[in-house]
Amino acid sequence: MPNEGLKPGFHELDIDDEHSIENFSEFLKEKHGGLDVLVNNAAIAYKMASTAPFGEQAENTIRVNFYGTLNVCKALFPLLRPHARVVNVSSSAGFLRNVPDGELRKTLASSDLDIQKLSALMDGFVKTAKEGMHREAGWPNSCYGVSKVGVSALTRIQQKEFDRDSRPDIIVNHVHPGYVDTDMTSHKGPLTIEQGAVSSVYAALLPPNVEEPKGAYIWHDKQIVDWVNGPTPSRN
Ligand SMILES: NC(=O)c1ccc[n+]([C@@H]2O[C@H](COP(=O)([O-])OP(=O)(O)OC[C@H]3O[C@@H](n4cnc5c(N)ncnc54)[C@H](OP(=O)(O)O)[C@@H]3O)[C@@H](O)[C@H]2O)c1
Repeated sequence: MPNEGLKPGFHELDIDDEHSIENFSEFLKEKHGGLDVLVNNAAIAYKMASTAPFGEQAENTIRVNFYGTLNVCKALFPLLRPHARVVNVSSSAGFLRNVPDGELRKTLASSDLDIQKLSALMDGFVKTAKEGMHREAGWPNSCYGVSKVGVSALTRIQQKEFDRDSRPDIIVNHVHPGYVDTDMTSHKGPLTIEQGAVSSVYAALLPPNVEEPKGAYIWHDKQIVDWVNGPTPSRN
């Protein structure tokens, strides 16, 4: 990267630790005075072979992937400058249609959904997962999937809030990066890191004052997908 004239910096951040988030926020404020692009990429996924109890997997996965992302946003959104771009890295697993129950889907898609109600839904998943009742409650049997449904639903709420923000033209989208060759997939994904970055880079570099995508679900090939009604693109 130095050959390209870029000077990337590094700062530690644990999205599962509020002090770490606060330190990072203070650092950005002091060193840069604001933020133009935020890509919420960090997440965890238990391996299929994990023997950890499902309730424990649910608690940890929702805490890191949903609440960690939410807490980073709460701390860093005040620093966003006009025309800032936020990318929430979701997944095909975060597609609303993966939620089996119609009523739950309706609630998650509702324009009345706010962060408090969404958090209560995520807490409800964890509670029922610990009781072994999450499927009866309408959820899929995937902690990772539910956490990403949460991240996607959160994105739609956040865009509505940005639409009312006094800072102009702040946009947040959620992306499915594709099935990528990383540690998370045990290197089984066919896409390279560069290919997996296409949707995030696209959403991060949207030009000023574009009409769309806003609060939208962007597939790895930059296709905009209707998160509520589908269809699922043929290329997963
Ligand atoms: N790979 C795929 O096929 C695929 C498909 C759909 C969606 N995604 C999403 O794409 C994103 C990147 O996934 P990946 O495949 O690159 O996963 P990965 O190989 O497991 O890497 C996850 C990254 O998240 C970081 N992370 C985890 N917990 C963190 C925490 N508490 N605070 C700060 N950073 C934390 C990890 O940091 P450390 O290395 O320091 O632990 C690591 O850099 C994730 O949001 C994932 O859900 C991936």
